[in-house]
Amino acid sequence: MPDPETLVASDPEQRLSDPFAPPVGPTAIVIFGAAGDLTRRKLLPSLHNLAASNLLDDGIAIVGIGRAPMGDAEFQAKIRADLQTFATGAVDPRAANWLVARSRFLSGTFEDPGTYTRLAETLAKLEKDAGTGGNVLFYLATAPEYFAQIVERLGAADLVREEGGRFRRVIVEKPFGHDLESARKLNSDLRKTLSEQQIWRIDHYLGKETVQNILVFRFGNGMFEPIWNRRYVDNVQITVAESLGVEGRGGYYDAAGALRDMVPNHLTQLLALVAMEPPTSFEAEAIREEKAKVLRAIQPLSPERVITETVRGQYGEGWCEGKHVAAYRSEPDVDKHSTTETFVAMKLHVDNWRWADVPFYMRTGKRLPRRVSEISIQFRRPPLLLFRKTPVEHLSRNVLVIRMQPEEGISLRFGAKIPGPIVRMGNVAMDFRTKDAFGSNPSTGYETLLYDAIQGDATLFQRADMVEAGWKMVEPVLDVWKALPPNAFPNYATGSWGPKEAHEMLERDGRRWRRIEE
Ligand code: BG6
Repeated sequence: MPDPETLVASDPEQRLSDPFAPPVGPTAIVIFGAAGDLTRRKLLPSLHNLAASNLLDDGIAIVGIGRAPMGDAEFQAKIRADLQTFATGAVDPRAANWLVARSRFLSGTFEDPGTYTRLAETLAKLEKDAGTGGNVLFYLATAPEYFAQIVERLGAADLVREEGGRFRRVIVEKPFGHDLESARKLNSDLRKTLSEQQIWRIDHYLGKETVQNILVFRFGNGMFEPIWNRRYVDNVQITVAESLGVEGRGGYYDAAGALRDMVPNHLTQLLALVAMEPPTSFEAEAIREEKAKVLRAIQPLSPERVITETVRGQYGEGWCEGKHVAAYRSEPDVDKHSTTETFVAMKLHVDNWRWADVPFYMRTGKRLPRRVSEISIQFRRPPLLLFRKTPVEHLSRNVLVIRMQPEEGISLRFGAKIPGPIVRMGNVAMDFRTKDAFGSNPSTGYETLLYDAIQGDATLFQRADMVEAGWKMVEPVLDVWKALPPNAFPNYATGSWGPKEAHEMLERDGRRWRRIEE
């Protein structure tokens, strides 16, 4: 075994032959919705990246299922073409050939029991010919209305029975329900066929390197945890901004909106990682339990607080990244009078000893000035007293910024003396960029999640109670917003940082959103 210390070296090639990450398999990966967008944009590029990094063993086989009338050869040609367009870096010809050689396509509808009979035959054949060991990872990359039905049909075809050491797991994509009631119903429908251990609810935000780094940063260093609490932290801000609009997903998005699309899942997961207590170990259950505790401690918003502590917005036309773009209501498949929000900001409190009275501000939106996701921990200001006989009139907060996108990294802002005979202060930053320190392999974020699901590590997947807690948190907001439709949409211009009310919400608290350009 190599010495872990030596793995800190900044050799970008090192991860490609990481001795701590052995190849995973054997497994048949069955993708429902294999001709769809998620498969070509994320799943195939991830499998390609894993193969290029030698992280998949030779007993891996891919079975795509979809309605498209395609044979194996056409599917394989499509994989090659899609990789050219969607791979996160240059296509590795060896990995592409490897992937194509073990990919099959099964054409059929998800309703038809015959599809599952043929799938059972294909899987039995692959177990013999491709050495998949009888393990199967089903990936539901379909529209959500099919989730329960596919699982029910898999059960009826006896495809989810685990015996003789072989596993049968089902990855369920988001959206997991569209409110608390539908999420509960989906959980109970899935559990008629599967055990909780067989249900792998995915949130691709947890596949992002920096998101996972939050745990290492907090608990693998001695100096941050002691100040990670209400005594030292003034507020926490979570921003997930996108410059893109709805990108051909108007139909889905207009029914969902920014709140459902991003908050109960991605943003809540980020909040849980920042706010959780140290787990007793890095075992999946220990980590998931601590995260679940935070979600349970989030104070539900009363209807009055929904009005003062949440903000919704919808983008009008404007300029984004040098291009003039149309308003949300002019996007394809969007209602011309839509009242769906494309921006949401809210203030939450985690009601426990560590975080009492520390506001957690979250905001997310489409058509904002640029794509950036970050968490900033804003520390309390020191007393100004000491500086009263100096020109320093204002002390800035120390801010720790954990950046997920576009450049992963962590930076700490603090004040330093500007050289000269009088005491003047300037803000400076210590910056860590993952790419510069360790190099970084191009990734979609799904690589780790697929790798973990094959090897059976559920740490980054959601338990039923966590998904339900996310919905419980936004339920009062959904209710109040439904009862009081917005009357001034669109209320922010494309290319701006959202409606003015989002800024006013923090100003009322004597704070402001971190200027992302800083
Ligand atoms: C998805 C949402 O879950 O996450 C999209 O449905 C959003 O609307 C996307 O654009 C953002 O993901 P990322 O990884 O690009 O930040």
